[in-house]
Amino acid sequence: MYQGKTVDAVLPAAGSGTRFGAGYNKAFVTLGDAPLFVHALRTLCAHPAIDRVFLVMQEKELASLPDLCLYGCDDTVIEFTEGGATRRESVQNAVLRSDADIVLIQDAARPFITFSYIDGCLAALETCRGATVAAPATDTVKIADEKGLVTQTTDRARTWMTQTPQCFDRKTLLRAYDAYDGSYEATDDCMLLEHLGEAIAIVPGSRSNIKVTTPLDLVLAQALLTGKSF
Ligand code: CTP
Ligand code: MG
Repeated sequence: MYQGKTVDAVLPAAGSGTRFGAGYNKAFVTLGDAPLFVHALRTLCAHPAIDRVFLVMQEKELASLPDLCLYGCDDTVIEFTEGGATRRESVQNAVLRSDADIVLIQDAARPFITFSYIDGCLAALETCRGATVAAPATDTVKIADEKGLVTQTTDRARTWMTQTPQCFDRKTLLRAYDAYDGSYEATDDCMLLEHLGEAIAIVPGSRSNIKVTTPLDLVLAQALLTGKSF
């Protein structure tokens, strides 16, 4: 509950980890003392504003789930939801089951979510219907055409690398699902609201809030976990 509003978290962990290349879902790769997805899960379970956590998994993987209590997760607040063919569908499956005022979405592949990111997103939702944590771009970002020729360079001072958590007024997100026509791939949930013309607030985050996508990212995550500096 946040300022009288109920809050559900959604943790999509139903991907296949193709780019990671382990041969199984990277959510189950070990990072430090726990499988990758458990790191974000225990932060969500421990946050006082979050009432329930929808853990989105492929049905066939539920059997290989470890005892989440052993990892410090409060399993009374966890509900399992079946994954979909895309990330958007996986998230949507859980959002449709939620009856909360606010949904907070966190990629299972981002282990370094903090209470301050969650608090920042919830606070931003007081003035907008959507909010995302994002890190300021440090590279100069270019848009290229299908031939690989540059067509545009973004203004770096206004370019943000979008991360999670993202949070939304749930009813507005439902409206965005209704309006979605499948003409673009919604690689994050903010895009769906952007197409409705809804304002999305940026909550400044950090480059250390990485997503484990390739094996190199796991090396970085291990170093970040042990506090090693580069
Ligand atoms: N995800 C999901 N359901 C899908 C696809 C992705 O729940 N059908 C989840 C992943 O488990 C991950 C998050 O969405 O926690 C971000 O997706 P990504 O990093 O792309 O993970 P994968 O899709 O597993 O990896 P890849 O794209 O390399 O196959
Ligand atoms: Mg993917």
